[in-house]
Amino acid sequence: MNAAWSPESWRNHSIKQMPTYPDLARLADVEAKLRLYPPLVFAGEARRLKAALAEVANGRAFVLQGGDCAESYTDFTANVIRDTFRVLLQMAVVLTFGAGVPVVKMGRMAGQFAKPRSSDHETIGDVTLPSYRGDIINGPAFDAASRVPDPARMELGYFQSAGTLNLLRAFATGGYSDLHEVHRWNLEFAARSPLAARYQDLAARIDETLAFMAACGMNSRSTPQIRETDFYTSHEALLLPYEQALTRVDSTSGDWYACSAHFLWIGDRTRQPDGAHVEFLRGVKNPLGLKVGPTTTADDLLRLIDTLNPTNEPGRLTLISRMGADKVETLLAPLVRAVKRAGKSVVWLCDPMHGNTISTASKIKTRNFEAILREVSGFFNVHSAEGTWAGGVHVEMTGREVTECIGGAHRLSEADLGDRYETFCDPRLNAEQSLELAFLVSEELKRRRDFLPQAVAAQ
Ligand code: PEP
Ligand code: CO
Repeated sequence: MNAAWSPESWRNHSIKQMPTYPDLARLADVEAKLRLYPPLVFAGEARRLKAALAEVANGRAFVLQGGDCAESYTDFTANVIRDTFRVLLQMAVVLTFGAGVPVVKMGRMAGQFAKPRSSDHETIGDVTLPSYRGDIINGPAFDAASRVPDPARMELGYFQSAGTLNLLRAFATGGYSDLHEVHRWNLEFAARSPLAARYQDLAARIDETLAFMAACGMNSRSTPQIRETDFYTSHEALLLPYEQALTRVDSTSGDWYACSAHFLWIGDRTRQPDGAHVEFLRGVKNPLGLKVGPTTTADDLLRLIDTLNPTNEPGRLTLISRMGADKVETLLAPLVRAVKRAGKSVVWLCDPMHGNTISTASKIKTRNFEAILREVSGFFNVHSAEGTWAGGVHVEMTGREVTECIGGAHRLSEADLGDRYETFCDPRLNAEQSLELAFLVSEELKRRRDFLPQAVAAQ
């Protein structure tokens, strides 16, 4: 593992979840093309995110990371991007204003295309085909031609990421995110939602605060923080030929950066300490995530931390716990304790989605909103008990009014799942459920905020 790193050194390591491309010459052609294309993000932006995450590691800020399980090539419109961005902004405002904690915002957007699968094949009736692995690899339709991994899809992924990122940058800095717009971010659904009054009340209090600040001389013109926001992109770094092709040397520092997104994470299925994904990511300087599932041992975790963050740099490594609501308190506590005892600086996030996927009697994948809330509460409880900072949440959500997860303010039931089940992979929270989750998290945060100085002192 300590042999010299290069952008292609992962190729000498065993790899999981790698698609089998039938035409390796075409794969090499696309990789060569991508190597010449401009980077999607800049090293300076990744460093800025790392500094923001260092604040989280030190207990002074909170992370909100969310978006689709899998972005899709057929669902690539301004409205889809805007709606997800808008709900993330609403959630962030609930957390920032409600709990008084700065929020680092990251989308599972502009590149979240490759999916790890538990099975290489899918069978329907008596037909068995290769599994769908995300739009950057093959197509979702259940026919043999769609399921063949096609390298040309990587190029499309690059251009779609560029288009999404362009709009996100415009939304973040072009006036849409101005805090004076908080009322207008309210989605159409909100008029009918039990959460509408709560959100409007918060928006009214923000208006009052802005009026007071304006009277003190701080307005959108004088104070960019009111007018603009920092919004970062992230995805699972699963498809390494694509990630390698977009890895560049930063001319100011001489360091390597993965330039497909600001933040990349390693999934629960590809976190083998000697595996290709860990090897690739250890060498790039971006802030990194590591999914921590129920089979993670403290020994493996400490080894991975040493490999991915050998200098113990705050903000470099974010551990994303995804244990399941019933197991989080028992499985997470020993890991948090081991990391703290070893003196490692990390950000802890809660992914309350991936440990709570269930299948209905009619074989529809769903998640129960109640279990999602219970995992978040369990995560906060563990950190309170261990004297560590619960650093944020990582959720699969959309700005659309889908019916994919059951429960929430509208009490969606199994019978409702057929109405608007649109995901290309895992079930997502809809806009209203996302906002409801943000209100719950802000309550948890408010309760813990006073405990913050001790947490920092203890770490
Ligand atoms: C995901 O985040 O989409 C995912 C596949 O998660 P995990 O690796 O934790 O299962
Ligand atoms: Co998922």
